[in-house]
Amino acid sequence: MPRIVIENLFNLSINSEASHRKVIELIHENGIDWMHACGKKGRCTSCKIIVQEGMQNLSEPNERELFYRNQNRLQSNERLSCQAVLEKGEIIVRVAEINKFPHIEYSE
Ligand code: FES
Repeated sequence: MPRIVIENLFNLSINSEASHRKVIELIHENGIDWMHACGKKGRCTSCKIIVQEGMQNLSEPNERELFYRNQNRLQSNERLSCQAVLEKGEIIVRVAEINKFPHIEYSE
């Protein structure tokens, strides 16, 4: 069963019944506030996830992600959660310091 663990949100764990779902959709469906300034269109980087483990379980970076990677605005261990699809297995991610919400308590 696909699973997302958000490390700096007290290792919050999200299980998905289905594979091949966008990461941000799984996060939002589970009631977790996650930044998405451009409306999940791949036109900002506010939704990025820092992938600690399980990069191989995500879809290949798409054109929007490669665009930001080429601009050095998305590092090789980072993905846009509105573009990356969780295909299988587990990913362990972190929210970037810059994208933390003031109304949410993070564990680190
Ligand atoms: S919400 Fe803007 S790139 Fe994902």
